[in-house]
Amino acid sequence: MNRLAPAALILIGLLSSSSLTPDASAQPTPTHTMVINADLGTETISRHIYGHFAEHLGRGIYDGFWTRSGTGEWHLRDDVIEALRQLRIPNLRWPGGCFADYYHWKDGIGPRDERPTIVNTLWGGITEDNSFGTHEFMELVDRLDTEPIIVGNVGSGTVQEMAQWWEYMNHPGPSPMADQRASNGQAEPWNVRYWGVGNESWGCGGNMTPEFYADMYKRFATFLHRYGDVSAFRIAAGPPGGNYDWMEVMMREAGSMMDGIDLHHYTINGSWATTKGHATDFSEADWFELMQRAWQTEELITRHSTIMDQYDPEKRVWLIVGEWGTWHQPAEGTNPGFLQQQNTLRDALVAGLSLNIFNQHADRVKMANIAQTINVLQAMILTEGDQMILTPTYHVFDLYKVHQDATLLPLSLDPGTYEFEGQSIPALSASASKDSTGTIHLTLVNLDPHQERTIQTTLHGQEVSSVTGRVLTATAMNAHNTFDQPDHVQPADFKRATLQGDQLTIRLPSKSIVALTIRE
Ligand code: AHR
Repeated sequence: MNRLAPAALILIGLLSSSSLTPDASAQPTPTHTMVINADLGTETISRHIYGHFAEHLGRGIYDGFWTRSGTGEWHLRDDVIEALRQLRIPNLRWPGGCFADYYHWKDGIGPRDERPTIVNTLWGGITEDNSFGTHEFMELVDRLDTEPIIVGNVGSGTVQEMAQWWEYMNHPGPSPMADQRASNGQAEPWNVRYWGVGNESWGCGGNMTPEFYADMYKRFATFLHRYGDVSAFRIAAGPPGGNYDWMEVMMREAGSMMDGIDLHHYTINGSWATTKGHATDFSEADWFELMQRAWQTEELITRHSTIMDQYDPEKRVWLIVGEWGTWHQPAEGTNPGFLQQQNTLRDALVAGLSLNIFNQHADRVKMANIAQTINVLQAMILTEGDQMILTPTYHVFDLYKVHQDATLLPLSLDPGTYEFEGQSIPALSASASKDSTGTIHLTLVNLDPHQERTIQTTLHGQEVSSVTGRVLTATAMNAHNTFDQPDHVQPADFKRATLQGDQLTIRLPSKSIVALTIRE
């Protein structure tokens, strides 16, 4: 990750930690109220909100999932598979991203030593040997026990090429593509359902207008034919952030032919046009701005959902947040095209806040994919040679996995405000669910880097008798894990929640994420 000598790293860590340790000098602890209705949930939090994304980008696939042994043989990494299985990841989106509209799937099948190479001009300009292709990806999802999401090539591919990939993966045979699949060692169809029809077609996927893409989408989607029980869950390329016109046109022109639409929203400091913020060396102004941008997710989902409601009041079409997460400057000494960045407590808070927002919109948001699983952007895992570390964001996904397929519980929270230089944002965020055993799960985030907050909670509709919890926090705002200190930021037991009858008092530390388990 960082090519400086360990001693230099420790020194930098100490310097930046101390300057980013907020002054804890006491102000009175603000108290907030929250009410949870434990018996009034109606929506299921789709497990697919906890999805992941792996593009042919930098060290995500090659070096991340897929590595060479001493003898030069490629293989999947057991350590990252084991760590990701722990998260119960529900799906994995592949091969991009922008790469999807550049990828020709036939280059990635057949004997590995006969596959053509490809220059990844999108990301870092490196030459890939196509050793990781369709069969390798399907072995990966099998070992992860997760569902594949394939994104087909609209931008530089043909309708026939995409239709043949679909046939290769799903036709039971005999058929030209099924026979080829069998001759490459896979007789049975894989029955892949989730299928993206292009990616970011407003940008790297072809720079199309929404009107033009709507027609292209319908044309490509038409030829994803049903085979036996398998029909495609067709995902259209959605808008970037607040491009509401794209959503409007797509829903109007192609809504009846899609099952999901894929919104992308990244959280950055500064602007896309200038240099982005630093992953570990940032000020409180940067912290505040990043949290403010992360809160924009709430507005984006609300506004896009309102447009979708006009065309799809039954909420059949999933709003998918197919790429989200923080995007910082590339780590020093790395290929800028590899989008490799460190991951601090600040990133973990953005993840906790975003996942609470997705949960709260469970009626429309049914799938989301954080970008990207290993070594790229807001990763769960960083690798260096044979070593692997878990990031603070990994721990958030571990704490939140209990919400998968649980029933969203209605709650109302007074979130208070976190103020900085005359601006303010809500300080607190929460979401709650009840699982099939009747256990209530409550996840909370305090974005305020200075103040702990007390939440006085009333639980209606269910008698409860015990509360336990875990907390993710640290002293420094930029606390992170390194190969020298892999466990610097990790969850700990949380003892500051107490229950008396239906009253739950929670003392939430500053800049923390807390997950509570409340039992009958
Ligand atoms: O995740 C990195 C890139 O961000 C993806 O390839 C693209 O879809 C988005 O612009």
